[in-house]
Amino acid sequence: MVMIKIAPSILSADFSDLKSAIAICQSAGADYLHIDVMDGHFVPNLTIGPVVLESIRLKTDLFLDVHLMVTNPEQLIEPFVKAGADNITFHIEAIDNPVKLIEQIRSFNKQVGISIKPGTPLKVLDQYLEKIDLILIMSVEPGFGGQQYISESTARIKKLDKSLKILGIRKRVIIEVDGGIKLSNAKMVKEAGADILVAGSAIFNTDDPHSTIEKFKNI
Ligand code: DX5
Ligand code: ZN
Repeated sequence: MVMIKIAPSILSADFSDLKSAIAICQSAGADYLHIDVMDGHFVPNLTIGPVVLESIRLKTDLFLDVHLMVTNPEQLIEPFVKAGADNITFHIEAIDNPVKLIEQIRSFNKQVGISIKPGTPLKVLDQYLEKIDLILIMSVEPGFGGQQYISESTARIKKLDKSLKILGIRKRVIIEVDGGIKLSNAKMVKEAGADILVAGSAIFNTDDPHSTIEKFKNI
């Protein structure tokens, strides 16, 4: 059985004590640390910039999974790479020329992800699937933690899983799912085809985030 990977989103952590949140993720066996970057334009919320990531990088060797919810992502690739990002995921809805952006991220030898909002047809990804490492399926509207999982997402994950299998690239391309993931729906999302689950409020809004991460890993 392939174990699910877990990427805690620090968006729901205590920002005045990120050091403790990161230490918990690390000791509990989190696979990635998910960093939600919001610019107040692509989404209404405003969150983490490269200076914060730089401080995070100094505290951990965890894989830093950077989810850019920004317009003009091309302007932020270099600053986030220099700050310590291990991969950069951008939104397909945010740009006109994904290939150029993919090449830009690759030029820094970083992994490339594309994220897709719940209402965007999956077919817009078709021409990029062979060029990227990861697809981040949003199972809520991007912008805020603590929202409810959109149930139609499950069918979208299954459909993407099937398309990747048909193309013969399923083993190489990672499916990550983000938004409304709880212990109660994690198994279903995994079985639909997710390789990595992002969870924010389900981890950090519990009394014992450490044991919650362990429970996710044992799904
Ligand atoms: C939403 C972010 C998510 C968010 C998930 O725009 O991309 O990563 O932190 O939060 P939960 O797990 O609370 O839905
Ligand atoms: Zn995210």
